[in-house]
Amino acid sequence: MSTPSSIIQKKRDGKELKKDELREFIQGISSGEVADYQATAFLMAIYFQGMSLEETVALTEAMLESGERYDLSEIQGPKIDKHSTGGVGDKVSLILAPLAASCGLKVPMMSGRGLGHSGGTLDKLESIPGFNVHLTRNEFTQVLNRVGCAMTGQTEKIAPIDKKLYALRDVTGTVECVPLITASILSKKLAEGTEGLVLDVKVGSGAFMKTHQQARKLAQSLIQVAKKMKLPCRAILTSMNQPLGYAVGNAVEVRESIEILKNEKTSEFCSADLKELTIHLCAQMLCLGKVVRNLTEGRKLAHSHLADGSAWKVFQKLVDAQGGNLSKVHPTHSLPLAPQQVTWKAKKRGYIGRMNTEELGKILIDLGGGRKKVSDTIDAAVGMVFYKKLGNKVQIGEPLITLYAQEKTDLSSLEPRFQQAIAISGTRKSVPKLIFEQI
Ligand code: URA
Repeated sequence: MSTPSSIIQKKRDGKELKKDELREFIQGISSGEVADYQATAFLMAIYFQGMSLEETVALTEAMLESGERYDLSEIQGPKIDKHSTGGVGDKVSLILAPLAASCGLKVPMMSGRGLGHSGGTLDKLESIPGFNVHLTRNEFTQVLNRVGCAMTGQTEKIAPIDKKLYALRDVTGTVECVPLITASILSKKLAEGTEGLVLDVKVGSGAFMKTHQQARKLAQSLIQVAKKMKLPCRAILTSMNQPLGYAVGNAVEVRESIEILKNEKTSEFCSADLKELTIHLCAQMLCLGKVVRNLTEGRKLAHSHLADGSAWKVFQKLVDAQGGNLSKVHPTHSLPLAPQQVTWKAKKRGYIGRMNTEELGKILIDLGGGRKKVSDTIDAAVGMVFYKKLGNKVQIGEPLITLYAQEKTDLSSLEPRFQQAIAISGTRKSVPKLIFEQI
């Protein structure tokens, strides 16, 4: 007879857990028989010892079975979702869900909150006053049917164990772990009832996977487990060597997303990578949903629906359907921005050679835009706006970033951290590609 502590010990000692043991442990978390400290020790044991493919599949299944699984078969149209493994300034979902819906897909999107130094779609959406990310099953399917996309978080009934483990991992140093990320993403995505999934696997200084080798391992784990669970899936490896777009922070990222949805000129320079990645992911989703025959057709369709305002119309419908206050997103300057605004400038001339993107994510947490412990609330109004991307030329005194902080925040210790996180070099180094490969 296994107990929570014997299961933890077995994993700690590097032995393979049986399907029943994993199920028992996960059920114990649900029933309260397994305490949070035991769940955390279990996560740490997995972090150090890893898991076989069979164990990862069993963990994903057990997490999925801990809650309900939505059946969306009555909803017409191909149901395809996208999920990112997490990054800094990654607000793609906010643009992509309405864009893909405007192109003919149904996008049932169940997202997470900020994790470690990375931001979360739910936290971003909640910076729109009134926006409800706690949809019931009925509300979720109704919004999906009516709008074409719905964006929600886990509830007590759907993927509840991921919700719990996600929050524990966030504050216990157990985020960067292939089997845990795999089970977290796929249990949520299988529970929401999607028929296909496009995975944006991030690699680089702001990703959980810092090297191509690690990111490929994660992508392969996700693809293999999805295949075992009969979920059609494709993964692409994309760069997280700098923040995506120009904004990092919750409300400020919603602003940037809206500028792209509205095709505003202000977003043209620093948001080009964000726009390109969104179009590419949309094309992948359209291929998976068989709306188009190939990526070229998919990109064309996505481009035209962004340019003609169709995606923006769907976004407004979505905000309205989920209780958000439309007058706050249009015009965007009604979204909150913290009052203390400071612009930090380049102290050297040269080229932006490297960004420690994880450190930039941590600076946001220190401003109050992310969590240090489970119970922390997020300040949606703090954030950063970047003026330069990797490879750009800078002169001494040119603005690099504007920071939005609360009045009480002492910024004196943050500026040296920021200046260190952005390396300016005398010669222009090659800039990493935005999209590396498809797995
Ligand atoms: N996204 C998730 O949903 N879970 C993880 O563990 C990492 C990214």
